[in-house]
Amino acid sequence: MAKELVLVLDFGGQYNQLIARRVRELSVYSEMVPYNISYEEVVDKNPGAIILTGGPNSIHEPGAPACDERIFQLGIPVLGICYGMHVMTQMLGGKVEACASMREYGRTFLKPTGSDLIYDGLGNEMQVWMSHGDSVQVLPEGFAITASTDSCPIAAMSNPGRKLYGVQFHPEVKHTIHGMEILANFLFKTAGLKADWDLADFISESVADIKARVGGKKVLCALSGGVDSSVAAALVHKAVGDQLVCVYVDNGLMRKGESEQVISTFQDKMKMNLIFVDASQRFLSRLAGVADPEAKRKIIGEEFIRVFEEEKGKLGEIDYLVQGTIYPDVIESGTSTAHTIKSHHNVGGLPEDIDFALLEPLRLLFKDEVRLIGEKIGLDAGLIWRQPFPGPGLGVRVLEEVTAEKLALLREADAIVQEEIKRAGLDREMWQAFAVLPPVRSVGVMGDARTYAYPVIIRAVVSDDAMTAEWARLPYELLDIISRRIVNEVRGINRVAYDITSKPPGTIEWE
Ligand code: XMP
Repeated sequence: MAKELVLVLDFGGQYNQLIARRVRELSVYSEMVPYNISYEEVVDKNPGAIILTGGPNSIHEPGAPACDERIFQLGIPVLGICYGMHVMTQMLGGKVEACASMREYGRTFLKPTGSDLIYDGLGNEMQVWMSHGDSVQVLPEGFAITASTDSCPIAAMSNPGRKLYGVQFHPEVKHTIHGMEILANFLFKTAGLKADWDLADFISESVADIKARVGGKKVLCALSGGVDSSVAAALVHKAVGDQLVCVYVDNGLMRKGESEQVISTFQDKMKMNLIFVDASQRFLSRLAGVADPEAKRKIIGEEFIRVFEEEKGKLGEIDYLVQGTIYPDVIESGTSTAHTIKSHHNVGGLPEDIDFALLEPLRLLFKDEVRLIGEKIGLDAGLIWRQPFPGPGLGVRVLEEVTAEKLALLREADAIVQEEIKRAGLDREMWQAFAVLPPVRSVGVMGDARTYAYPVIIRAVVSDDAMTAEWARLPYELLDIISRRIVNEVRGINRVAYDITSKPPGTIEWE
């Protein structure tokens, strides 16, 4: 039987992917599509409910995004969030105006006024998160106010007969304390959906699907050691066993122990067909004397392609290539409204003229779902919870020229950062925590002797999606331990600095 589907129409707000993820956390499959998806396509997809997201625009701006009006006539339950509520209001004959008391931003208290099912069982006052400059002033016909806040009289509205709901606040963010219940009420109580999205089913369906597609043919996968390519490879391996060949290129820019972990996981434990290529010397000699970050990236990307093509050449006919593309990559390249993150080529960047078909078993999954699948198919926690790591590896964290000597220093210092943050139980709270080696040396004193050596910079950030990040408030005691250990244990480093810049204005990586 067909599974339930919720379509999330993307109006460009920063929490959009979060909405689709929350729906899936409630075990209903959701897809994010551009706001201007055609009416015919909506009809064709036959969703059980539609959610209109927030967005950065004011509905009164010329060319402000709007969806096809006929979507509201389909009888499909619709929830409009923030800007989505404004779109609904405007299209159905109500009025949206700039808020009287300027922009409203942050936590506020919501009082449900009626007996709307959306607030069923949630009490008569709750903290919600708002961020808007406009609000609904005149309800569309047939609608009633269902909740207010002190500064926003129409903080929510509904027309239960037509199953149309609008909320000015953001149920998808954690600061809205009953946000998940509100979404659940919309999905289950008003739209009457079933909770039928289950990752265990996804695994068995996807394995069957890959088997059917691949038949007896040969599949190649470039493993990077990252979460996505690892889970994708493991899933394909489950489907086609030894027809899958994985190539792992050690470019000499990996962190301490990383290549060993790949071998022990994939070769020793999972018994996968793994070709391990130690290409570190090749990469290093091409990087000699190169200081410019873009030039370094380019060299690393190109060299990867060369090594990969050489290995591929040795394998004879290959029909499929596995890629660890995940849903946020698909959304980002597919919807014009979704915010664009700097495009990163994963796995060093594969050639564009690749002449085999792609297998992308994770292309419908969010990162947290990919991790759950990794867990279910038995990958190590260390791999599944690995922090994001740039394709060009330590090549971007050794600033200016990359040499074997500098890489060795950075690797040791970085390992201490990882170890101590883990020991303090803070590793899962960090988006990333690592060491950076700047191209300067300074004077220090150790024992009775003067030193002239490199500093390392520690970068630790908390973030939800790398678009913005806060520097992590690591305890002084922890920073102290890290600093002492690095200076004592890593000969060649005599100072430790901590980066206290958030993003923006900084970026997460130094390079
Ligand atoms: P920035 O430094 O732009 O990084 O704040 C945002 C996130 O992207 C990661 N990053 C990369 N990932 N290839 C990748 O696969 C790259 O070239 C690359 N550069 C940055 C970075 O680690 C952070 O998580």
